[in-house]
Amino acid sequence: MSVALVGAGPGDPGLITVRGLERVRDAEVLVYDRLVAPELVAEAPGMKVPRGSLTQEEINDVLVLHGRRRRVVRLKGGDPFVFGRGGEEALALVRAGIPFEVIPGVSALAAVPAAAGIPLTHRGLSAQVTIVTGHAADGSDLDFKALARVQGTLVVFMGLEAVPALSRGLLAHGADPLLPAAVVSRGPREDQEVVHAPLADIAAASAGLATPALLVLGRVVELAALLAPMRSLAQAAAAGSGRPRSGRPRRGGWSGLRPDQPVTS
Ligand SMILES: C[S@@+](CC[C@H](N)C(=O)[O-])C[C@H]1O[C@@H](n2cnc3c(N)ncnc32)[C@H](O)[C@@H]1O
Repeated sequence: MSVALVGAGPGDPGLITVRGLERVRDAEVLVYDRLVAPELVAEAPGMKVPRGSLTQEEINDVLVLHGRRRRVVRLKGGDPFVFGRGGEEALALVRAGIPFEVIPGVSALAAVPAAAGIPLTHRGLSAQVTIVTGHAADGSDLDFKALARVQGTLVVFMGLEAVPALSRGLLAHGADPLLPAAVVSRGPREDQEVVHAPLADIAAASAGLATPALLVLGRVVELAALLAPMRSLAQAAAAGSGRPRSGRPRRGGWSGLRPDQPVTS
């Protein structure tokens, strides 16, 4: 009948879109990823198919098979089209002649740094965002020469294991060893952890963190010193606990921005 490729957001069930949740509640078959919040899976009334160890080709086949007769929802972490293989699934549906729609999700791209008090752009600090996958870091796929010179903010997905190779590659090509860096693990969830360190030290500082995790590099990271504590207090107040959540960094130091210090140019 049809398939909806739905973005579930980055782990907090409250971050799915209204339309995405409507489709989940109406699904005859729900095919979902490991990183999707269990609360959202529980909203689906029909058959549930976890991705488990299925290959991408097998997932495509499941979508085509069920999509011919039923209302299928393919629920994916974050946004389906940001490092989510949503394009591959959409192409398989096009080839099979099955109608589909894409319902965007809140990507980890901005939501996870935001949960740690890091805006991706900020007047005077960053007017440019570059996004890469860390999967390619130990091979020749990343253009370290270009990345080392990139202005603004660099965000690395799937990069936790690759942080040592990434930082080595960037430093070898002339990146500033003092460039502010943060790794945000499991954001925005109760068990979120954040590590701050200069680029030269971020590999050692982030060793042992849990996945999923996002690496953020650039001067915007400094804003966490001002924004993360306030954000944590607001969350604690909303939850009624009076205790801040893990907004503050676990290790590393702050670099000197003050609330009264203008950073706009
Ligand atoms: C396969 S990609 C999927 C990205 C997803 N489509 C999106 O738009 O957010 C998985 C990577 O996204 C990042 N990620 C996803 N959820 C995250 C979370 N809750 N906390 C930190 N990083 C996350 C991590 O870098 C992880 O390795």
